[in-house]
Amino acid sequence: MAIPERFLEELAARNDIVEVVSNYVSLTKRSGNNLFGLCPFHSEKTPSFSVNREKQIYHCFGCGKGGGVVNFIMEEENLSFPDAVHFLADRVGMTVPEDDTDREVAGRRQRILELNREAARFYYGNLSREVGKPALDYIARRGISPEMVRRFGLGAAADEWSLLTDEMRSRGYTAEELLTAGLSKRGKKGGLYDTFRNRLMFPVIDVRGSVLAFSGRLLSGEDGPKYLNSPDTPVFSKSRCLFGLNLAKKTKRGTLILVEGNVDVVSLHQAGFDCAVASLGTSLTPEQARLMTRYTDNVVICYDGDGAGQKAAQRAIPLLDRAGLKVKVVTVTGAKDPDEFIKTKGPDAFQLLLDRGENHIEYRLEAVKAKYDLESSDGRVGFLKDAAQLLAAIPNSVEREVYAGRAAQLCGVSTEAMKSEVERERKRYSSQAKKKADRDSLRPTVSIKADGRSTKYENLASAAAEEGVIALLMADPQLMESCDLKEEEFSSAFLGRVYGEIRRRFLAGEPISVVVLSQSLEREEMDRLVAICDRPQDLGTAAQCLADYIKKIREEAIKARMRSDLRSLGESMLETKGFKGNGEN
Ligand code: UTP
Ligand code: MN
Repeated sequence: MAIPERFLEELAARNDIVEVVSNYVSLTKRSGNNLFGLCPFHSEKTPSFSVNREKQIYHCFGCGKGGGVVNFIMEEENLSFPDAVHFLADRVGMTVPEDDTDREVAGRRQRILELNREAARFYYGNLSREVGKPALDYIARRGISPEMVRRFGLGAAADEWSLLTDEMRSRGYTAEELLTAGLSKRGKKGGLYDTFRNRLMFPVIDVRGSVLAFSGRLLSGEDGPKYLNSPDTPVFSKSRCLFGLNLAKKTKRGTLILVEGNVDVVSLHQAGFDCAVASLGTSLTPEQARLMTRYTDNVVICYDGDGAGQKAAQRAIPLLDRAGLKVKVVTVTGAKDPDEFIKTKGPDAFQLLLDRGENHIEYRLEAVKAKYDLESSDGRVGFLKDAAQLLAAIPNSVEREVYAGRAAQLCGVSTEAMKSEVERERKRYSSQAKKKADRDSLRPTVSIKADGRSTKYENLASAAAEEGVIALLMADPQLMESCDLKEEEFSSAFLGRVYGEIRRRFLAGEPISVVVLSQSLEREEMDRLVAICDRPQDLGTAAQCLADYIKKIREEAIKARMRSDLRSLGESMLETKGFKGNGEN
């Protein structure tokens, strides 16, 4: 599976990061070795996305994302590591060396995709056979048109044990392949039976048109869950797919509508809203949000009207926000879901909903409002404070004012009172943000992690020195010759692991660079590593700095040991004292 590192090095050398990034981001500002532009991974008005030609890395000071040229393509084109490597190889006319296992894996994937396609055709074909009668009736009852059945490739899994399995076996697919694809299961006696039975089948099709998986809705009875989805397979990862995106990607509406149910998607497409997609029964994932950004800048969330749907919407907003998408939320009223809304009130009513669709600020205001009893003055004060906090975070002053007016209306205070509260919060907010930025610049990098979760270093002073060591070694691996630190001496397990890897590579004469490390580090770890490397360093004084860092790390280790010795000493003394105290009483 692994791509030879020498090849990766060569690939990175021929794909200069500045050139590659420039195809996506206009780099307008320069400061030292860094070029700056607007970050493609989150929305911002002033450039905090930097590219360093010398180190061949990118790093966003705003959202914390970073990496080498391969990571950039993975993020931007939404590709896996190997696919991003192929992408860059194509760009410069190189051929990725493939070993036998590569070819074997690719071959197996191909077989599964073919099997899925044949299964989809088979399910579709069932609709015109006797076994498909219940599904056909169901389709009619739900008001799904034949045109939509064709477009989505809907089908029927018969209420029998092994119709599909037997058919596919007779076409030459092995038991192994059927199991891997998730289409069959093994029974107690060892035989295979169909995973999907007595279900209306929705094939999950990716943007290239491959059938990746299935989602099946129970037609009658209670044999299993209402919806059954294919398990994750070599060709399918639920968290990375959106149902309907293969069709919605062609929409001219300039937006995607995100709904909960498969039926909602079909029903919206049928009513002319050809931009509806759904996450497959999971709550929305960051990968799905990123996937959307390839096709649109705008998303309208239209989840079910019930409590669960509204909660899910609240969770989806920050995810979409963070991916840089403009989010609106629409609430279907008087219907349980978008499907029912369209059926009972018609497409025009739905269009109206979209047109006056609240954007998420208004939506959040409503949520704040629901928390307070606005009849009481206490409630109004609470709302005022909460709402002001929410609105203070809006970067645009005009928008802040508009929403302050809206909030004032909601709770019946004067617009002036609301506005001045918002501006007061705003001042607090920006001075806090500034203080935080100042603190962060002195602190080890973790505090600015992209997902807002910060993995805390236990020993900040030592971690800062440990990061220093790694930054120096990444910039000039030869320095390892004068570094006798051991991995165990690091207080942070993560930094220790990175150090251990650099050391191992150095001793083995293997390459050391962001590109080769990106094959073995997790996404978030890469972000952190790059943040560490992206600090200015003076390599003229590197040897001295390294020596200082090593000294610091060892001093801190001694201090930490003393602290913990003292603590246990203190604890044992307290215990003794406590014992005495009890004795005297
Ligand atoms: P819903 O229950 O809202 O389904 O679940 P729906 O599509 O609106 O179906 P109808 O209108 O009742 O027929 C929303 C989505 O959650 C997933 C499915 O993807 C479904 O479309 N789901 C639901 C599951 O994965 N498993 C379940 O048991 C139920
Ligand atoms: Mn539903």
